[in-house]
Order: sequence, then structure tokens, then C-alpha cells
Amino acid sequence: MARHLITSALPYINGIKHLGNMVGSMLPADVYARYLRQRGHDVLYICATDEHGTPAELAAKDAGQSVDAFCAEQHDAQKAIYDGFGLAFDHFGRSSSPENVELTQHFARKLHENGFIEERAIRQVYSNADERFLPDRYIVGTCPHCGYDKARGDQCENCTRVLDPTDLIDARSAISGSSDLEVRETKHLFLLQSKLQGEVEKFIDEAGEEWPTLASSIARKWLTEGLHDRAITRDLDWGVPVPADVWPDLAAEGKVFYVWFDAPIEYIGSTKEWADVDPENRDWKSWWYEADDVRYTEFMAKDNVPFHSVMFPATQLGTREPWKKVDFLKAFNWLNYYGGKFSTSQRRGIFTDAALELLPADYWRYFLIANAPESDDTSFTWELFSSSVNKDLADTLGNFVNRVLSFSRKRFGDEVPAGAEAGEAEAKLGEDIARLLAEYEGHMEALQFRKAAASLRALWSTGNSYLEEKAPWLEIKTDKDAAALTLRTAMNLIHLYSVISEPFIPSSAKAMRGAFTLTDDTALWITPDEARSLSAVPAGTPFTVPPVLFAKITEDDLAAYKERFGGEE
Ligand code: MF3
Ligand code: ZN
Repeated sequence: MARHLITSALPYINGIKHLGNMVGSMLPADVYARYLRQRGHDVLYICATDEHGTPAELAAKDAGQSVDAFCAEQHDAQKAIYDGFGLAFDHFGRSSSPENVELTQHFARKLHENGFIEERAIRQVYSNADERFLPDRYIVGTCPHCGYDKARGDQCENCTRVLDPTDLIDARSAISGSSDLEVRETKHLFLLQSKLQGEVEKFIDEAGEEWPTLASSIARKWLTEGLHDRAITRDLDWGVPVPADVWPDLAAEGKVFYVWFDAPIEYIGSTKEWADVDPENRDWKSWWYEADDVRYTEFMAKDNVPFHSVMFPATQLGTREPWKKVDFLKAFNWLNYYGGKFSTSQRRGIFTDAALELLPADYWRYFLIANAPESDDTSFTWELFSSSVNKDLADTLGNFVNRVLSFSRKRFGDEVPAGAEAGEAEAKLGEDIARLLAEYEGHMEALQFRKAAASLRALWSTGNSYLEEKAPWLEIKTDKDAAALTLRTAMNLIHLYSVISEPFIPSSAKAMRGAFTLTDDTALWITPDEARSLSAVPAGTPFTVPPVLFAKITEDDLAAYKERFGGEE
């Protein structure tokens, strides 16, 4: 038994996430966590909402709410959706928690003590009317390139050019609209990452060795370009305050840490939130501090890799404290919608709330993981989605379960029939199952989710081939005992499927397992060796026939979905 710490990139607070966000971080982490738990490991799966920064302030302003009320509401809304998707976090925290405030300040203090933080004066836009410094995106004006009159100080949304606030024509404050702006000198904290370059390189050389190429190549690219010192404070009302005992001037000016400084620390903060719920029995520090026996796996989309592979490790190293660093970094490419981007701002694609209104979580979980953008970007299309639901879930798995159970019930009653001793066909089936199951385990251990899904699918198909070959509906006419053997074996397959499919489709797996009244009804793993004999469900076990597991998506449904969500451009 090993200890596994698992985190998924923290979803940003400013709105409901789309399916691309889901498949790139939380869902695969949940599949992996479930698998490891079933194998008997000690797993801690941690996530949280990422709540600080300008986008949160702006979104709250748009919604006409105070930023803390906005964040509290959005946190609950996201949490409810993730529950709906069956994401079994040990804790889903908030980066604005007191735990994270304390830890972030602790990190800053340590970095300061060790000479990795420096105060530097920079020139920044100050709004006299608002009596505050304005972050770049709080300044709006006319784009000097395309003439768009609502360009932001960091970028023009219309022509996508990157801007400096001083480029804007008729610049004004996005808060008050005032154009009474001036450039003033102000001090910020800089993290001296350049001093940590060598240590981070050494870390990536060692840990990065086993990461997927997508992750290690992005990390190396950043190192080649050289680690630059970067500002880790901002002028915002909402964020982790700069501690006044160390930096009284900056604290007095109300500076807070930059969101990307405190967000990864919330992985630890959220673990502390988890422990604070039950301090007698939970020890957050044993997971993070001097935790050499813990294996730490992070999940994220590729745009998050630089922060997790290089910058957060640099922050951790600079504290000179033994914080747990990432062992395995699983990164994902983009999931597209018909070849174009999912877009939160344009509401293009499918959002997680709408997905759950349409169909049960297991349909999405299976499709998304089976098509996870691991080696390349992949595309969601309704055609692909419905054919994979209909073929894999409804025909191959669901139909097998219902066919076997209803037929057996009709001919032999509501207990698993005994029948003949296992013969040659069962021995061959056992071998096939054991081989495929070993393959499946190998892909899961390697975090190769598409390949794991393909092995799982092959395991489901094997049941169908066996059933077609033995044809119990014909056997029953000449040899009842032979038919009973076939059905008992098939029911053992159903039970096996319920156990091994659980990481992908937890609620359907539970319904399948629930068909049998077993004394030991756990989802603990079945190894290839144990699976070979197909005997976990003995003759005489009472069973029921569950309702249809997966409904097919009809042509009419398909047309309606495409109409509602848009299809090809
Ligand atoms: N909120 C960030 C994003 O959506 C991810 C933050 S991951 C963190 O890209 F843990 F580092 F916070
Ligand atoms: Zn422009």
C-alpha cells in the first residue's frame, strides 16, 4: 500500500467550466484516484476553486455582487456540478480560505528570509478618482492598431494584439470611467527566480524524467528561455495581503499577492482545510512536509504546465523547507468543439451544467476519458459522442448486462444457476480476461487513459463474443446444465465489469454490482489471477435485473442537441 497525493488544477472561480476544462484536469484525476483507492492505496485527492485575481473582481462587478459573496456563490455552484459528475474529492476547498492566507504568507516570509524576494519600484498607472493603482486590464481605451474603443490595457479583444496601458488612446479607468490617470512609481515584491534556475533545472532533470513528453518539453522550453524574476504582488482589494510585519509599507498600501503566487499553495491550503474538519484524525502535514513516502501526481491542461513544473517548484525550493514536490505531472492538450475552441466568453461548446441536465454523468465521463486529448488535441462532435455512447455503453456493456440477467431470471429464477463445471470455453475466456485486465492495469498505472479505455472496451466485448459463441438461448433447448454454466459465467463477467469499470462510470458500476446480493459487496479490485476463474459470484447468489443501464441516443436527440448547441461552423 502506497500513499498517493493527487491534485487537479484549481478551476477558476469566474464561471461554470466547459467539458474541455473537465477532461483536462478534474475528471482524469478522479478516474486515477478511484482506481488507486480500489487497489487499496491510501489516496488523498485535493482540489479547490482558484478565487483571487482581477478576473474574479471583474466578474463580481459584472454580477453586481461583492467579490466575497460572488466567490462563495460560485464556489457552491461549481461544487454542486462536480458532485453531479461523481468527482470524489477528499476535499474541494477555496483559495481564499484562512488556511491558504496563512500558508501563502508563510511561503513569502521564508522566501524573504532566504533572500529570494526583493522590493522593486516600478511605474504604474494610478487613478486619482479611484484613489488606487490600476491593474493593466482595469484600464480601457482605444486600440492604437484597430481603433476598437473598448480595448483593455493588457490586450485588445478585437484585434488580439498585446498592449501596454500607455499605448491606449483616451485611456480611462474601467472602475469609474475617469480619465484622470497618471503614471506613478510604486513598489512591488519580486520573486528572484533567476537565482533558483540551477536548482529547478536539477529538479526537472530528475523528476521530469518520467513525465509525459508534453509536460517535460514545456518545462524544458521555459528553462532554456531562462527563469526571470517576476512581480508577485498586485494592487487589488481581493487577495492574500502582504504581511505587515515584513513589508509594512506595501501592506499599508494594501498590496496583495498575485493570484498565481497563492493558487498553487492552495493545494496545501486545501489539504489543511481538509484536516481542520477533523484534526484528531487527519494530518495535513504528513502529506506535504518531509513526505518522502508520498507519491504526488498533478493533473492539468498544457497552459498550466509552466506554473506547475517550474514556478511552483521554484517557490517551494526557495523556502528551504522540505515541501513535497510533484512526482508525476500529467498534462493534457485541448479538447475542441468541432475543431474550434470551446470558449467560456463566447459560450461556444458544452458547459458542465448543461451536460448534466442533458444526460447522466457516466455518459460524459466515459466519452471524455475514452477520447482524452493526451497525445494531441481532440474534437468533441455530437456524432462521435452519440456513436460511442450507443455502441460502447448501450450495446456492448448495457445490453450484455440486461440480456444475461433477464434471460437467466426467466429460465432459472432469481438465483445464479449452478449448472455444469467450467469447460474449455470458460478456460479460454478466463485467459483472455486475465490478459486484457493486466493490460488495463498497466495503462492505468501509466496514466494512459485512452489506452485504458480501449482495454476496458475490449474486456466488455469479450463477454459478448463468449455469449454469442455459447448461445445459451440454444443450449437451453438441449442441455440445461450447459446453459446454466454459460449464464453463471456471464454473470461473473458482469460482476467483474462492475468492479473494473468503476473508475470510469461509478454510478452504473454500482447499479451493476447492486444486482447481486453478495456478502462482501465491496468494489475492491479483482486481479488478473483472481479474474481468471470467474467465480466471485457463486451459484445460489440472489440477483435482480436492474433497469436499462444506458439509453441510446436517437437520431432525433442528435438533431436536437446539434440544434441547441450548434455543430459545425
Ligand atoms: N485557475 C487556473 C486556471 O484555470 C489554474 C490554477 S492551478 C493552481 O488556469 F493550482 F496552480 F492554482
Ligand atoms: Zn485592436
